This record gives sequence, structure tokens and C-alpha cells, in this order.
Amino acid sequence: MKPAHPSFDTRPNRPFVLINMAMTADGKIATANRSVTSFGSPRDLHHLYELRATADAILCGARTLEQSHATLGNGGESFRRRRLRKGLAEYPLRVLVSGSGTISPTAEVWAQRFSPIILLATSRAKPHLTALRALADEVWIASGQTLNFHSTLERLYRDRGVRRLLCEGGAELNDALLRAGLVDELHLTICPRLFGGRTAPTIADGEGVPQLARAAQFTLKSRRWVDGELFAVFRRQVDSKPVGQRPQRR
Ligand SMILES: NC(=O)c1ccc[n+]([C@@H]2O[C@H](COP(=O)([O-])OP(=O)(O)OC[C@H]3O[C@@H](n4cnc5c(N)ncnc54)[C@H](OP(=O)(O)O)[C@@H]3O)[C@@H](O)[C@H]2O)c1
Repeated sequence: MKPAHPSFDTRPNRPFVLINMAMTADGKIATANRSVTSFGSPRDLHHLYELRATADAILCGARTLEQSHATLGNGGESFRRRRLRKGLAEYPLRVLVSGSGTISPTAEVWAQRFSPIILLATSRAKPHLTALRALADEVWIASGQTLNFHSTLERLYRDRGVRRLLCEGGAELNDALLRAGLVDELHLTICPRLFGGRTAPTIADGEGVPQLARAAQFTLKSRRWVDGELFAVFRRQVDSKPVGQRPQRR
């Protein structure tokens, strides 16, 4: 079957990509001042660990790692055992994204060495290369100013055996993956709060798309209410036609 859109590939040689995010009822993933980075329930955190336990690797953006205490671990002993039963490594491979290579050396993720860390950067990071190589196990430098996630995901698939990749945000990284048509599944926890704030991040910021026809299209696969939170799973529509003219509201 042909891809629905020229920029949407059909995943021949790349991992299945999931994004998992918690958002408020007004679509925010943090407060405008970025001081609140975590607001889901314990059930939401459990859901995150469950998803991690299905993934070979976790992908995360530089600002998220700097603004949270995330170390991208396996979630503890029961999840470690779950990973082993599935034939996965004890801990997920960690793949961090910082095109400019300016990710803070004090981010907590660097202090935990339970699994390899690959840093994805671009030619803009060259001045920081020595420092980055001292922090990360591997630094992959892409030519150009921004990462081409198609080739990066293919390399993760081919060289590191990554078959399922869980992206944990944030907004700019999600947007780059969505615009590239590389997100297969979106797990959204909608929390019953409102943050407001025009600069508060949403699940996909960055450049966005210029037209409706280029919008990533998903269908609702499942939904469940647990203790006031809505856990929704969306699947990318690979066989849909690009969105054309929509009926006008009267
Ligand atoms: N509620 C939730 O579930 C949740 C989950 C995750 C994060 N968050 C929140 O989201 C916020 C962070 O999101 P964010 O959008 O500011 O940052 P982000 O997506 O975590 O990181 C952005 C950085 O990643 C690098 N990057 C992303 N796409 C790239 C590309 N195509 N090419 C090269 N580099 C790229 C760039 O690093 P360089 O600048 O170094 O080039 C960019 O500045 C935080 O407040 C965090 O708490 C919330």
C-alpha cells in the first residue's frame, strides 16, 4: 500500500515510534514558567513505566531533560523483570536530542549509567564535541542544522536493533517527529486541570504544519477513564487520503 502522504513513510526499516505525554484539559504539558513538569497521577506514572517496559529505547529532548529529573530508567524491579520476560535488555537504551549540543552537563540523566546514552546532535554541536563525548557513550553528529529523524531512526534500527522507540517529549521533539510522519502511536493522558498561559508548551510546538492537508492524522484506538484521568491511545492513519476541503461551519 502506498503511503498516505509523501512525507509519511510506511516504516520499512525503522522502529515503531510511540509518543507518551500527559496534558491538561487545555492542552498544556507544563506551565508557562516551566516550573511544573510533572502533574499526572501515580497511575499515569505507572502507565509510563508500562510503556517503557515495551521499548528498546527512549528518546527525549534536551529541554525536557534539563527541566525535569528524568533519568529514563526501567521503573524498578517488576518492570525490569517484565523487560527480561519480553527478551528486552534490563534497561532501555537512552537516546537524547540536542541539535546544538548545548544540553546541560548537570542534567540528572548523565549521573545514572545503567544503560548506554546516545546523544543525537548536528554540525552545530562541533564546538562542544569534546565535552559531549565525555558525557555520552556515543555522539551521533548529523550534517545540517536540524536532525533528519528518518535516517537517525533507520540507524537506530540497523545498528542498535531498536524495534520500539518510546519518545517522552518534549514539545519541540514531538513536533519534529510528527512533521516527519514518524509517529505511529500517541498515548495521551488528559488530566483534569487547566494551566493556561500562551507560552505554556503543548504536545507539539516547534514549527507545526502550514496546512490542514499536512496535519498528522490519527484515529482513536482506545480510551479509558481511571480516577478522573482519560488515557487515550491514537494510531497513525497510514491508509487515509490527505485531508482535503472540510465542510464549513454554518
Ligand atoms: N507533560 C508531559 O508529559 C511532558 C513530557 C515531556 C516534557 N514535558 C515538558 O516539555 C517542556 C520541554 O519541551 P520543549 O519543547 O521545550 O523541549 P524538548 O522538545 O524537550 O527539547 C527541545 C530541544 O531538543 C532538540 N531538538 C528537538 N528537535 C530537534 C531537531 N529536529 N533537530 C535538532 N535538535 C532538536 C533541541 O536542542 P538544542 O537546543 O540543544 O539544539 C531543542 O531545543 C518542559 O517544560 C517539560 O517539562 C512535559
